[in-house]
Amino acid sequence: MHLKADNIIKSYTKMQNVTLVLKGVSIDIQESDFISIIGPSGAGKSTLLHILGGIDSPDSGDVIIEHNGVYYDYNSMNNKELSNFRNKFIGFVFQFHHLLPEFTAIENIMLPALIAGDSNKIAKEKAKELLNLVNLDLRETHKPTELSGGEQQRIAIARALINEPKIVFADEPTGNLDRANSQNILEILDLLHKKMNITFIIATHSDEIAAHSQRIIRMKDGIIE
Ligand SMILES: Nc1ncnc2c1ncn2[C@@H]1O[C@H](COP(=O)(O)OP(=O)(O)OP(=O)(O)O)[C@@H](O)[C@H]1O
Ligand SMILES: [Mg+2]
Repeated sequence: MHLKADNIIKSYTKMQNVTLVLKGVSIDIQESDFISIIGPSGAGKSTLLHILGGIDSPDSGDVIIEHNGVYYDYNSMNNKELSNFRNKFIGFVFQFHHLLPEFTAIENIMLPALIAGDSNKIAKEKAKELLNLVNLDLRETHKPTELSGGEQQRIAIARALINEPKIVFADEPTGNLDRANSQNILEILDLLHKKMNITFIIATHSDEIAAHSQRIIRMKDGIIE
């Protein structure tokens, strides 16, 4: 797995006001990297993660992922191809966890597997393993509102992993958590990185996560410094 983004430009237009958010970002990510993206609020970290993960598209620039000698170019995929690709290769842990409120913890984790075509039985087995991995066996039937912030974040991590992605993008995975919970999340990410050989790209304000990374990318005003 190798991800290469070239000269990514992204702007938002609101009421004839154009904000240039990414001003030509290039990045090269190798297999099983553990990368932190840091920088002030508004620098464009979330926007960049969304584009690298194929959930948002740039105004211009390319994102190309190579896996086992096959090249996937976001620009040349239609929506359906892109969403299939994402479901199979990419896991996303969002800045605000985006768990579905009407579903239980285990159902939230199972969902991407069901979408990918797993049977209910298989999806459930996989989800149970992941619940165990994030230490939440006893919260299986809790709804998101019946979970603490740290627990919700761990469920979101489990959900991101169920289809065994090659790359996981995590946007502030410890954003609203206290020290103990943040430490716990970091340990889980570290374990996954070592055990499953997953590439992690993490937007974070946490010095601890940054210190733990193999590589730190600094962003400011829409560019990589
Ligand atoms: N949908 C949108 N429409 C208009 N402007 C947007 C939109 N999304 C983001 N922006 C603007 O783009 C800039 C970059 O936002 P982004 O969320 O990528 O920053 P960030 O580095 O992730 O910040 P934070 O550390 O606060 O999460 C901000 O100035 C924001 O106001
Ligand atoms: Mg952000």
